[in-house]
Amino acid sequence: MNDFLFLSASPNQRTSAAHRFAEALLEGFGKRHPATRVNRRDLAANPLPPLSAAYGAAVARHTPADDPAFLHSEHLIAELERSNHLLIATPMHNFTVPAALKLWIDYVLRIGRSFAPGPDGKVGLLADRPTYIIVSSGGFHQGPQARQPDCLSDYLRLALRTIGIRDCHFIYLQGLVGGEEAVATAFASAHEQLSQTPLFAGVEPLSNALVSST
Ligand SMILES: Cc1cc2nc3c(=O)[nH]c(=O)nc-3n(C[C@H](O)[C@H](O)[C@H](O)COP(=O)(O)O)c2cc1C
Repeated sequence: MNDFLFLSASPNQRTSAAHRFAEALLEGFGKRHPATRVNRRDLAANPLPPLSAAYGAAVARHTPADDPAFLHSEHLIAELERSNHLLIATPMHNFTVPAALKLWIDYVLRIGRSFAPGPDGKVGLLADRPTYIIVSSGGFHQGPQARQPDCLSDYLRLALRTIGIRDCHFIYLQGLVGGEEAVATAFASAHEQLSQTPLFAGVEPLSNALVSST
């Protein structure tokens, strides 16, 4: 059984290019692997509450996991534990992850629960799984057209590695500010990137992703 956790982090929600691309990807994957289940969490449509002082104090004191301060953290970590694939659709905001995704990271990376301190650094406590990250951006941060740094990919890779997720594949939808034609070009390039990955090799072109669902 392929159990996906699908995290979506764009304020554009269902009309987001990254979100649409990821949904089309899941649809194509589901056709080839009918025993696929998807748990969707839209971090923009249903924002997580800001971190509380009680949460910070509970983390610092290594409070037991059933403490009420860990309610959201436990829920989000349990969601990850119930899945064996992770798909993230996220925009780049100011060179890195948007605040909505950063908050998810702050709830999920928890000492003593999802990672443990070790003599050589933090050790992930969750199972590794195929993880695909669709990154949308107005401009370019990869390749010959790049005019800005990418502080998203290494950061997110490190955050996921901290909890034990190492099998990460980044797929970039770049230059989206250029309008419909640019979006179509970005989708074609992303499809090309995907076809070189283990999970989606041979995936059909995701033409249905180009249709904006408002
Ligand atoms: C607050 C904010 C910050 C942004 N920062 C960047 C950036 O650093 N680099 C970039 O290329 N685009 C940036 N953008 C543009 C978004 O990446 C772009 O609108 C988004 O990827 C659209 O994708 P979506 O359709 O998946 O939501 C920013 C947009 C917003 C709203």
